[in-house]
Amino acid sequence: MKRACVIGWPVEHSRSPMIHRYWLSLYGIDGAYEKEAVPPGEARAFMRSLGEHGYVGANVTLPHKLVALEAADVKDEAARAIGAANTLWLDADGKLNASNTDAYGFMTNLAEQAPRWNDGRRPVVVLGAGGAARAVLYGLIKAGASKVLLANRSRARADDLALAFPPRVEVLDWEARDRALAGCGLLVNTTSLGMRGQAPLTIDLGRLPSDAIVADIVYSPLETRLLAEARKRGNIAVDGLGMLLYQAVPGFERWFGVRPEVTPALKAHVASTLGGH
Ligand SMILES: NC(=O)c1ccc[n+]([C@@H]2O[C@H](COP(=O)([O-])OP(=O)(O)OC[C@H]3O[C@@H](n4cnc5c(N)ncnc54)[C@H](OP(=O)(O)O)[C@@H]3O)[C@@H](O)[C@H]2O)c1
Repeated sequence: MKRACVIGWPVEHSRSPMIHRYWLSLYGIDGAYEKEAVPPGEARAFMRSLGEHGYVGANVTLPHKLVALEAADVKDEAARAIGAANTLWLDADGKLNASNTDAYGFMTNLAEQAPRWNDGRRPVVVLGAGGAARAVLYGLIKAGASKVLLANRSRARADDLALAFPPRVEVLDWEARDRALAGCGLLVNTTSLGMRGQAPLTIDLGRLPSDAIVADIVYSPLETRLLAEARKRGNIAVDGLGMLLYQAVPGFERWFGVRPEVTPALKAHVASTLGGH
């Protein structure tokens, strides 16, 4: 029996077990997916001895994504560019491999929900400069976004992030976010604003073109105030659930040998635990 896990601290909130166990059962695979609560001081050693713990691989969640990259023997391009890893596996030589599948998850979902997100002319506005923003920026630029306008509450963090992706990322002040929407083709919220328990994102969508797309990577609740307001104005709204599900696909395939599908039934299964507004 093959076993994988999610490593975090805390780890209780993780949705990964629900997703991977759904696929294990759907495809009739003799496998298991566990939760491993590992404190920060022990994370590296745990990852370096995944095999001894009986695992073929793992997902890694907060706060261990940087350590996961560091601990790996082999790191793919996405993990190196994003500077963090969320997926680990042991290869045939027993080497620990690391990837970051958040950019893949975000872009695959965006391409599915809004295939015309990039007309090659209009800029993308990205709000936030945390760990998720780095993955989103990497994905957007790799997929051909010609210009990204980046705004974050702490400007210095956005400046740092933009340095990683010159010259296509331009930093704006957080206060300039409303004005930046004029002429943009896609707005992405990567901040934690709008998440259950957090303040909502305050932004005036008045200048946003009526055919622009609005994506929010927050998935709890599924329908954030930002998405509800976008929908009300007729903009295409893309929620964060698809990213969460697609980022799980490459890991499952590595560990269990089947490329799993993201289906409406899986979306409904996970969405039922996320709540509405
Ligand atoms: N759908 C998915 O699969 C997926 C994947 C990853 C993450 N996410 C979600 O994405 C969100 C961000 O995750 P992360 O890992 O990037 O977190 P993070 O590294 O902690 O970054 C948080 C971001 O939110 C901003 N922020 C927090 N409070 C704010 C406030 N009061 N006003 C303005 N900005 C504020 C931060 O700005 P400062 O830099 O100024 O603090 C920063 O840009 C979370 O809700 C997470 O659940 C979803």
